[in-house]
Amino acid sequence: MRFLITAGPTREAIDPVRYLSNRSSGKMGYAMAESAIESGHEVVLISGPVNLPAPPGAQLISFSSSDELHDAVREHLPNCDILVMCAAVADYKPADVSAQKIKKRGEPMALELVPTRDILASLPAERTYRVVGFAAETENVEENARRKLRAKRCDLIVANDVSDAKIGMESDENEVTVFFKNGEKRKIPRASKKNIARALTKIFENV
Ligand code: CTP
Repeated sequence: MRFLITAGPTREAIDPVRYLSNRSSGKMGYAMAESAIESGHEVVLISGPVNLPAPPGAQLISFSSSDELHDAVREHLPNCDILVMCAAVADYKPADVSAQKIKKRGEPMALELVPTRDILASLPAERTYRVVGFAAETENVEENARRKLRAKRCDLIVANDVSDAKIGMESDENEVTVFFKNGEKRKIPRASKKNIARALTKIFENV
């Protein structure tokens, strides 16, 4: 199978020296890429700025902003069998990017933000590939994950509870629940991201 995997955070520029980002380390997406390669699949890994070595055997493409990620996904989607959307995409970006470094003033300042494009939700309904979403939640994990599964028209969604510091963001371990379109769910108990990725690869091969 041909896997298209996205990983890591987006950066939304404020001015030439500042950006808005998030705590995604890219570890889960990179573990997915390594596991898919290990299982004999082709992998295109679209990666945000992370401190991880490129997985040997993957075609690596870099992005910084959510718009760049959107364009890279659209470019490579026609050649893949499954999109695995691990990247932590910004929901908002600055309305204007200042051409010059914004100078400090001794008063409060407001930054106007506008919504970014939802990459998954904007994919065409007619598809030749499967779509896997990820949902990092801090509360009501199951309810939020099921809502995203429907709203983003995913074939399945992998949810984790990032309110627990031992799993999820920046951690080497994870514990996830996979929600399927037919209402089924499957919990993958706490393990290294590598082993979680191996279990997910098996599920994705049969979706
Ligand atoms: N996602 C996306 N485009 C965005 C935001 C998110 O494609 N602009 C994808 C993520 O890569 C992930 C899934 O949607 O696979 C869920 O992301 P998440 O941040 O959990 O959901 P949001 O839609 O951003 O909802 P909220 O932030 O309100 O939880």
